[in-house]
Amino acid sequence: MKLLIVYGTTEGHTRKIARFIEDHLQAQGHAVSISDATDEPPAPVSFDAAILAGSVHMQRHQNALAHYAKAYAAELNAMPSAFLSVSLGVASGDEALMHEAMLNATAFAREAGWAPHRIVLVAGALKYLEYDFLKRMIMRMIAKKEGRDTNTTKDYEYTDWDAVRSFSDEFVAVKAKTAPIK
Ligand SMILES: Cc1cc2nc3c(=O)[nH]c(=O)nc-3n(C[C@H](O)[C@H](O)[C@H](O)COP(=O)(O)O)c2cc1C
Repeated sequence: MKLLIVYGTTEGHTRKIARFIEDHLQAQGHAVSISDATDEPPAPVSFDAAILAGSVHMQRHQNALAHYAKAYAAELNAMPSAFLSVSLGVASGDEALMHEAMLNATAFAREAGWAPHRIVLVAGALKYLEYDFLKRMIMRMIAKKEGRDTNTTKDYEYTDWDAVRSFSDEFVAVKAKTAPIK
């Protein structure tokens, strides 16, 4: 299958998730093309399926990803597609935060006029070592309030890689099932 992955990232963790999916599906023989949304990604039309992935900062996903989804909504709607929304809110497992994260991801797709077959919430990372001083202090404050890790001398990854792998497998399996029989 020819699969397109377009991602938006601010501190790099969503790129890591996108590359993880790329590696996993390429190892199974799929042809995967991966692009940062800020790098003029190819149009979805020449692919069999597409995954868009973005992370949440101050309740919003990356503008470049929103522009891409809006520009190609009609093409995306004509193929199997999925939206991966990466955030810290979902790392807590707190139901209210999960609900908020799903509303946010759904609003992203709706505002673009895009109807992905799947919206998946993915727990992101706290990259204390990559934040500047101010960001580090703000993120530590939020982490403390939400009961997360506050030791700013290291980074923390909350992503469930097995769940990302399972999502990838399911996504290509569903596409394979719905492919026309020639
Ligand atoms: C300045 C800043 C603001 C953030 N705002 C939110 C937020 O509103 N909701 C949330 O759940 N996570 C928030 N996060 C957590 C990010 O979504 C998380 O760190 C994610 O892994 C970032 O992915 P990226 O490295 O691909 O940008 C924020 C992180 C930072 C640094």
